[in-house]
Amino acid sequence: MKTKLIALSATALLAAGCATTPSDDEYYTKAVALMKAGFKDRGQAKVDRIDQDSLQKLCSSYGSNPVPPDVAERLQKEQLATIKYPADGKYLGDWKSGEKIAQSGRGGQYNDDPKQPSGANCYACHQLAKEEVSYGTIGPSLYHFAKLRGYGPDIQKYAWNKVYNSHAFAACSSMPRFGYRGILTEQQIKDVVALLMDPNSPVNK
Ligand code: HEC
Repeated sequence: MKTKLIALSATALLAAGCATTPSDDEYYTKAVALMKAGFKDRGQAKVDRIDQDSLQKLCSSYGSNPVPPDVAERLQKEQLATIKYPADGKYLGDWKSGEKIAQSGRGGQYNDDPKQPSGANCYACHQLAKEEVSYGTIGPSLYHFAKLRGYGPDIQKYAWNKVYNSHAFAACSSMPRFGYRGILTEQQIKDVVALLMDPNSPVNK
């Protein structure tokens, strides 16, 4: 993200004929200002989405360099502490609903109804079912997730945690924090976790 921002602002500065060499922070500030000037709020899609929280800022500051292990460990601990567990203690919902949620990329856009639940777009980054012809490969394949890892309570809890807040296990993950950011409801997370964990789900067939 930051590299892209820097590239954007560098172009703008060159065009303006600027002769000094601003620091990374100055580039960043200018780039954010340019982006904020270039976009406007539209419905639920607000320009404040450009603002990074402290974790995102810190992750961006490393660019494509690895995050030092002690920093990663601290960030993961902080993110793990944000996770809320299902009120009834049950991690698994309905995998059929989970499949629909995993396939849906709707939600959060200016022309989506904010009252309707969002999709999770898991397929944009992961293979989940064998039958699915189109999926992204940013994340690892989750086909046979529970078949390979086990169906027990520890893996169920891990799947819940990972979907709720992916950064609890990979400090600077590019996977959205579905629970922490309120993208999915508790029931939707249960349904998606069931998709990963149910022996009858296409993920484990
Ligand atoms: C924008 C891309 C993206 C989206 C969307 C996404 N993920 Fe991920 N996911 C990743 C990446 C990258 C990783 C590997 C790095 C990491 O662990 O965070 C990952 C890792 C995982 C893992 C850990 C796999 C393991 O072997 O331990 C699980 C489970 C997972 N994702 C489930 C999901 C589910 C379920 C959804 C939809 C609710 C989803 N992901 C949506 C990018 C994404």
